[in-house]
Amino acid sequence: MSDPTIIEPFRIRSVEPMRFTSRAEREAALAAVGYNLFGLRADDVLIDLLTDSGTGAMSSEQWAALMRGDESYAGARSFERFHAVVSELTGFEHIIPTHQGRAAERILFGAMVADGDVVPNNTHFDTTRANVEYQGAEARDLVCVEGRDLQLEAPFKGNIDLEKLEATLRDEGDRVPLVLVTITNNSGGGQPVSLENLRRVRELCDRYDTPFILDACRFAENAWFIHEREDGQSTRTPREIAREVFRLADGCTISLKKDGMANIGGLLALNDAEVAARCRDALILTEGFPTYGGLAGRDLDALAVGLQEVTDPDYLRYRVRTAAYLAEKAWQAVVPTVRPAGGHAVYLDAGALLSHLPQTALPAQALACELYLEGGVRGVEIGTLMFGRPGVDGAADEVAPHELVRLALPRRTYTQSHVDYVGEVIAAVAERAADIPGYRIVEQPRWLRHFTARLEPLPTA
Ligand SMILES: Cc1ncc(COP(=O)(O)O)c(C=O)c1O
Repeated sequence: MSDPTIIEPFRIRSVEPMRFTSRAEREAALAAVGYNLFGLRADDVLIDLLTDSGTGAMSSEQWAALMRGDESYAGARSFERFHAVVSELTGFEHIIPTHQGRAAERILFGAMVADGDVVPNNTHFDTTRANVEYQGAEARDLVCVEGRDLQLEAPFKGNIDLEKLEATLRDEGDRVPLVLVTITNNSGGGQPVSLENLRRVRELCDRYDTPFILDACRFAENAWFIHEREDGQSTRTPREIAREVFRLADGCTISLKKDGMANIGGLLALNDAEVAARCRDALILTEGFPTYGGLAGRDLDALAVGLQEVTDPDYLRYRVRTAAYLAEKAWQAVVPTVRPAGGHAVYLDAGALLSHLPQTALPAQALACELYLEGGVRGVEIGTLMFGRPGVDGAADEVAPHELVRLALPRRTYTQSHVDYVGEVIAAVAERAADIPGYRIVEQPRWLRHFTARLEPLPTA
């Protein structure tokens, strides 16, 4: 057979029923939560593409591993198994489990980042940015030129701009406590970072004597893109590539709710013994003892298996193809997306689709609400609601660089017909794009406002 369909590389042996709702029910549910999709009950959502974080299905091997969980407070066998897998994969000396990614970020930045510092990254994810800013530092996004052009087809749009990174290291000097690179670049469209780019970052960090830390939530998807797209890499396995990538860095933070293939978990890993010791002290204060870090022993066992399964080429081929397939559905409906499709998600360009709305009318939030109202599909706004800020002293509100709706695909959870349905919902919304109203914020907290803000639709002309 030439070019067979890339099928789900698993059988389904346990199912979770989905609840269908009427349009009237969805209208009432959305109004009741102030037009913030984070406020919805999961039961009121049909296809939940809010995030790929912690929402995937575990394999039979992972469920079996849960039964082996050793719940000893200290020195559990589960930690030894987790440690062995993480050590083989990353090569880092100090392996510190946390309950999720942002805990690793807060602990690391608490130990390494000071007031007035500058932290460069390709693009900071929202919790990463918030945790950098919480220390009084500047989170500086330095994604490459291609990465800023949403429609451009280029293989590694997650690359960091090496010239800008060097300028930052040179000009800011000691104010740069570490360099971050996020693989794949979630807030920049789930775009990969090339091995070449990571090697150059290593060189710059050596030259300026600055630690290089990976935000490696989607290290396996990134490795697959390198295998598929980078010269000279197609004969290496994704695991070999991932192992090299980790060994270029001095440490990493990871939300294991993504490529850890489990529903909870995080990791902070470092080579520097002194920083690791300070991190462990902070860990004990808020997360738990260093051999469980806020997780149950059984979670560590599920992760130990997941971190092996995730680099399986059959899995990664299917995974990346699913996102590309959904992007093709959007293009058939003439809905622009970030190109090429990312590894874990498709990013609809709401700014282009709802061009009648100014950014202050939150076009990405408007599109996200409409996908829910149309067909019970929940995505997430990555635009001015997430990254904008209220203007100070009467100044205009700050807006985000782009207005995107991310449709993130939980791992091993939805089938091809679910993805077909999402494509139909996108097409139906696109047909009446010009009539979709904007929104305004009526209530917002100081940090991470998109999680809890309340909004209302703007009157239509
Ligand atoms: C790139 C990136 N960094 C950090 C995080 C934070 O991880 P967590 O949600 O586990 O706290 C996420 C979560 O989505 C992410 O995508």
